[in-house]
Amino acid sequence: MPSASKRERMLNQSRILIKGGKIVNEDCSIISDVYIEDGRIKEVGLNLQIPAGVTVIDATDKLVIPGGIDTHTHMELAFMGTKAVDDFHIGTKVKKEMETLAKEKGVNSFKMFMAYKDVFMLQDHELYAAFSQCKEIGAIAQVHAENGDLIAEGAKKMLSLGITGPEGHELCRPEEVEAEATQRAITIAHAVNCPLYVVHVMSKSAAKVVSNARRNGRVVFGEPIAAGLGTDGTHCWHKDWAHAAKFVMGPPLRPDPSTPGYLMDLLANDDLSVTGTDNCTFSVCQKALGKDDFTKIPNGVNGVEDRMSVIWEKGVHSGKMDENRFVAVTSSNAAKIFNFYPQKGKIAKGCDADVVIWDPEATRKISAATHHQAVDYNIFEGMECHGVPVVTISRGKVVYERGQLKTQPGQGRFVPRQPYAEFIYKRVNQREQVGQPSPVIRKPYDGEIIAI
Ligand code: URP
Ligand code: ZN
Ligand code: ZN
Repeated sequence: MPSASKRERMLNQSRILIKGGKIVNEDCSIISDVYIEDGRIKEVGLNLQIPAGVTVIDATDKLVIPGGIDTHTHMELAFMGTKAVDDFHIGTKVKKEMETLAKEKGVNSFKMFMAYKDVFMLQDHELYAAFSQCKEIGAIAQVHAENGDLIAEGAKKMLSLGITGPEGHELCRPEEVEAEATQRAITIAHAVNCPLYVVHVMSKSAAKVVSNARRNGRVVFGEPIAAGLGTDGTHCWHKDWAHAAKFVMGPPLRPDPSTPGYLMDLLANDDLSVTGTDNCTFSVCQKALGKDDFTKIPNGVNGVEDRMSVIWEKGVHSGKMDENRFVAVTSSNAAKIFNFYPQKGKIAKGCDADVVIWDPEATRKISAATHHQAVDYNIFEGMECHGVPVVTISRGKVVYERGQLKTQPGQGRFVPRQPYAEFIYKRVNQREQVGQPSPVIRKPYDGEIIAI
């Protein structure tokens, strides 16, 4: 039994008043206080009647935003002969298991690969089957869109030309390899009326494919990632092998330096919908598995820690998007697509108390020397970012405060999600009802038939 003073301390920690900040949701911003109790937002407003002894956090001149939702990470992923150094990953398998996961385990999205030939790559008929099943069980299909056959051929060609360094990784999978697969995935998903989510959209060409499909009415969402919005693939041509190898991921960061700005423009204007990181970190000594052959460099980059700052800097500070769109693309849209909005992704009475107190004016320089990740470099090294998290609250507990992490391993929780997210399935279900083709009613043909 905790002592009376410890009980009092625990109680105070689960009761927090955030005072004087500007609450930013995806639809509007308003100066207001937020009172948190037992992991939930209990009240939002001014002059709230609050019990004595609560922890008060002053948020004057700060923004109070919903906790970020990173849509795409790989923790502890066993991959390309080694294991990602930051922890935790969940994998998926076949048709019946998909149904069990969706109906009983709260999983409502499944990622399919069109790349990694002879490892994960699916053929078109397999994608058709997987997308059909996603549609059947009310899930959203996610796809890693790259043409795995072309990559395999391209890799052989580069090696035969004596190109063994990290630049070979991009050269064997140019933009159209990503764009073609993106278009193919959208076509297959449309054929079975399945909503589609394209993970890590990395090139202008693939982004245009997603954007055009949305304008043609397809139910498709594109996910640019922090790496693709914050840096580019010119690094893979760096003379220092280790520097170049740090930037190897698939689909590759593109050497066209105007790509990040272009992806950000599309994200700001809703051609692309939501941001992840695809955080999949391998230290330099792991990357070195491919020192003589780029096909053996474990693919993946960091991002999970810096996503919010990179997107604020390149998106909001640059003037491409406002603070509300920032919340939409870092949090609310993810919560809607994956069906846990407004439990997450919103600051309002009754929502989970996942809150960030954000200083839009403060700056910080990203560096591996100061980051909290296990990986021994940072692809955003030296980037000066406006927009700094001051306090982060997860389910009502302060987990980060002014540079200090206050977490314990195992504190995270899986959030079970229901299938048939309204945000996507309202349209899908209606189309199913009204969009079925019907036969032309005609008199039977009664003329001559050729004898065979
Ligand atoms: O290079 C990448 N993207 N590594 C992580 C695995 C994946 O394809 O998402
Ligand atoms: Zn992928
Ligand atoms: Zn990934």
